[in-house]
Amino acid sequence: MKLPTSLIKVELENFEQRFNEAVKSNTPLLDRIMRYIVKRKGKQLRPMFVFLSARVFGPTTEATYRAASLVEILHTGSLVHDDVVDDSFERRGFFSTYALWKNKASVLVGDYLFATGLLLSLEHGDYRMLRIMSDAIQKMAEGELLQLEKARSLNLKESIYYEIIRNKTASLLASACSAGAWSVTENEEATEKARLFGEKTGIAFQIKDDLFDYASEDVGKPTGNDIKEKKMTLPLIYTLNNTDRDTRQKIINIVKNNNNDRQKVQWVLNVVKETGGIRYAQEKMYAYKDEALEILATCPANEYRQGLIDLVNYVTERKY
Ligand code: IPE
Ligand code: IPE
Ligand code: MG
Ligand code: MG
Repeated sequence: MKLPTSLIKVELENFEQRFNEAVKSNTPLLDRIMRYIVKRKGKQLRPMFVFLSARVFGPTTEATYRAASLVEILHTGSLVHDDVVDDSFERRGFFSTYALWKNKASVLVGDYLFATGLLLSLEHGDYRMLRIMSDAIQKMAEGELLQLEKARSLNLKESIYYEIIRNKTASLLASACSAGAWSVTENEEATEKARLFGEKTGIAFQIKDDLFDYASEDVGKPTGNDIKEKKMTLPLIYTLNNTDRDTRQKIINIVKNNNNDRQKVQWVLNVVKETGGIRYAQEKMYAYKDEALEILATCPANEYRQGLIDLVNYVTERKY
């Protein structure tokens, strides 16, 4: 399974330079942390979504580049904050910003990144893009807060799970795709189509991410962390809804009171596997992917559309 990077090679190279330039700072601590983050870059999937969603509809513009930088800056900020929220020490195979510099610096670095991203579009008068991205930041915070609230009550309906992940993750992917389309078309219909495609893909993306928590292989961040944080994700929700009363009580008790006991958490993970929770989540992930592909089928047929198909396949098949 390969990433469709050759189609947008020039774009990605230019992007990287602009991104690094945009997050530079003269404040020593901030600069040190930013250099640490930039060195351990992620998969850069969101910029790829921006460029391919643009090129499906037309040639790359300056606004496309700004959209790609903006979306990766916001994504980076959201991860710095997320590791504080999730008390997570590993990110991209290294110590997280939170692990090294703790709460205070992480909160401020995340804020700095959000503001840097928004200023980037404001300075160029990209008001439509500013709206698209501000909407994503708002939804990310809402999704994370809804998740936090539900982790306290330990009662999660499947429909609420989708609401959480649509907000916390799919919103940014939707923004990446719609900003890409807008940057070359300034056409509402194309932009909305791209947004919806990004949203469906984003939901599949987060289901995959939640499946990683059940993985035994190294994925570059902690596994088994969700239960520790009382986060109920799709595999567990399915199992709770499809097992006998005693097992359900036992699981809830462990998530509530023994979520730091590795052996007990492992028992929960095994029950989830045995009752088909993993398989169910995979099926749902593929259903969302198919919805995304259906929307894509109504977009102009060209090599960039094929690139997006490859990218969506990567999202559901990736190993980290
Ligand atoms: C991780 O996103 C955060 C989620 C929304 C699940 P990615 O897997 O795209 O992270 P990086 O940027 O490649 O590290
Ligand atoms: C991803 O959420 C971060 C945001 C969407 C803001 P998670 O907490 O589920 O993702 P990982 O596993 O830490 O990357
Ligand atoms: Mg989180
Ligand atoms: Mg997390």
